[in-house]
Amino acid sequence: MRTQVGIIGAGPAGLLLSRLLALQGIDSVVLENRSRAYVEARIRAGILEQHTVDTLTEAGVGDRLRREGLEHHGIYLQYPGTRHKLDFPALCGRTVWVYGQTEVTKDLITTQLAGGPPLLFEVSDVIPEDVDTDSPRIRFTDADGNAQVLECDAIAGTDGFHGVSRPVVQQAGGRVWERTYPYAWLGILADVAPSTDELIYAWHPDGFALHSMRSPSVSRLYLQVSPGEQIEDWSDDRIWDNLATRFALDGWELCTGTVTDKSVLPMRSFVSAPMRRGRLFLAGDAAHIVPPTGAKGLNLAVADVTLLAAALVRLLREQRSDLVDSYSDRALARVWRCTHFSWFMTSMLHTSGDAFDAELQLSQLRRVCSSEAAARELAENYTGLPLDV
Ligand code: FAD
Ligand code: PHB
Repeated sequence: MRTQVGIIGAGPAGLLLSRLLALQGIDSVVLENRSRAYVEARIRAGILEQHTVDTLTEAGVGDRLRREGLEHHGIYLQYPGTRHKLDFPALCGRTVWVYGQTEVTKDLITTQLAGGPPLLFEVSDVIPEDVDTDSPRIRFTDADGNAQVLECDAIAGTDGFHGVSRPVVQQAGGRVWERTYPYAWLGILADVAPSTDELIYAWHPDGFALHSMRSPSVSRLYLQVSPGEQIEDWSDDRIWDNLATRFALDGWELCTGTVTDKSVLPMRSFVSAPMRRGRLFLAGDAAHIVPPTGAKGLNLAVADVTLLAAALVRLLREQRSDLVDSYSDRALARVWRCTHFSWFMTSMLHTSGDAFDAELQLSQLRRVCSSEAAARELAENYTGLPLDV
């Protein structure tokens, strides 16, 4: 088999990259080690930045998003006694959209399978080789158990945090930075209308809570818990009681409903540099992880592949390497901005049990809720800084 760009991983990063390249006349093949059903069912992110929505729309995969997605004009920041709305259009002229990552993935897969580049599920033993040459290849075993070789001009490692691509880049030298936060999120999906018009990010002495949503009839809620927490110890009643306590506000009530999914998520920051070795380019979670408090993971993956697609088109169509040569530095500049913002939101909102920390957090929250300059800084980062392709 031969293609121009071999793409490892059919998460949002790999699928969107394949689509962006196809629109510019560049061939690709996407290799995914899981099944289509598994990839489409994985519940993850829910907030799309303005640039993500624009990129998906321009790529022709934004129709259902525009129809079924919910445009949001702000968030609430809460601490005991106060729920304050940050009005994003007034602060920075941008909005965000609620549309699940599962739906983004389904839209991309549907488009790809309807005449787009090949997308192979359930492959195994994926190995990128000869990435320091101009003709790298990917060895893999297809779903029928046959050994295959995919010859390429370039390889995109969009295989997430546990993929095979990052170790190949790091073998040639590089650096990682990592922070594991001392808390986790317990997340639920529930069949109940959201009790709020905008997302609520709540600081509470018992721990952080987030009220998000997926549709007018489905809510997504999170509780800060300790990292070792067992999901079996959290009955639905215990979860709703904790949520009601942490979101409590005079005159407001939390509606409860049937819990359809629950899981515990670790909280980690991780950055791997460079995001390139020769003709192997990393994008998305393969190169970096942020804690979900800033809602940045999926958006960063989209930003990476937007830069990478333009760089690969320039390389493969015009034989000019300037954009691939600067790809890693340009992508990492945004990665570090988002890593800082995600750390800032996480640090401001999660309780550590330390009374001094709690006073600093409350002071910071009061500042964001009373100073237009402080609120604008948060709004600009949350809605996504413009992408300089
Ligand atoms: P992924 O979505 O991880 O896709 C990588 C793909 O590569 C997967 O399909 C995987 O099966 C495949 N793959 C892996 N190894 C191989 C291999 N060897 N060969 C072939 N294929 C391979 N972000 C937020 O902003 N908000 C959230 O609430 C949020 N919640 C999250 C919850 C969880 C449990 C996780 C893990 C992440 C969450 N994120 C969240 C982060 C966000 O989902 C990711 O940033 C986003 O999925 C990154 O997309 P990606 O395409 O880079 O990686
Ligand atoms: C979600 O809806 O899953 C979500 C929203 C905002 C976040 C994190 C997760 O910051």
